[in-house]
Amino acid sequence: MKQIKQKVVVFTGAGISAESGIRTFRDSDGLWEEYNIRDVATPEAWAKNRELVLEFYNKRRKQSLEAKPNPAHKALKDLEKKYDVIIITQNIDDLHERAGSKKVLHLHGEINKCRSTVDETLIYPMKKEGIKLGDKCERGSQLRPHIVWFGEMVPMMDLAYEVASTADIFIVVGTSLVVYPAAGIINYVSANIPKYLIDPNEINVSGIKNLTIIKEKAGIGLPKLVENLLK
Ligand code: APR
Repeated sequence: MKQIKQKVVVFTGAGISAESGIRTFRDSDGLWEEYNIRDVATPEAWAKNRELVLEFYNKRRKQSLEAKPNPAHKALKDLEKKYDVIIITQNIDDLHERAGSKKVLHLHGEINKCRSTVDETLIYPMKKEGIKLGDKCERGSQLRPHIVWFGEMVPMMDLAYEVASTADIFIVVGTSLVVYPAAGIINYVSANIPKYLIDPNEINVSGIKNLTIIKEKAGIGLPKLVENLLK
């Protein structure tokens, strides 16, 4: 008889891609030190200066194309040998997919896709050169990055809560846990299951039961944790 695999839900943030060379947002060299969120990552920014917004995301896309999955992404792929692994990521890069992970839910969108500004269900693969002003969807509206901006709804949130609530093991990697609603996901996880948090810096988590904090970089801490879980 086939044994049902335990479900491991992994919630990832920018820190898991840091060792691949993709900048995080809130570390000292983070993107939000160089840019103002309001100028590049909000509907207001899009209304005010589309060129600047497109330039920002075209840069992000170039950076993510140049990056390669690191040992942390690869460890999560290895975890599939024994577990049903579902990754809920805040990241817009595709490094989890490129490492081979099968189930990845992108809460904040995907940098390799663009979409219509009049119909959010019209989603397209991004062209090699990124989006330019004047690039249009089939209904004639300007294309925008397939990104959830600050102030916009997170369409996958309910699904993510549901997935988190059915986890047998929950792992958090490389997120400052300050951006809501995504950060609230940890509150949907059952109190009784084992939880792990991997981050080299201090993260503000209190009142979470059965939580083991691993104060290491993802590329070191995650492969070690996965090795233990595979034993
Ligand atoms: N390994 C693991 N964690 C790391 C590493 C590393 N090598 N380097 C940095 N970190 C940690 C930092 O300590 C921090 O806790 O990664 C976290 C990055 O936090 P943020 O920059 O705030 O990124 P994230 O939590 O993913 O941001 C959430 O905010 O700007 C928005 O939409 C954007 O999805 C993003 C959301």
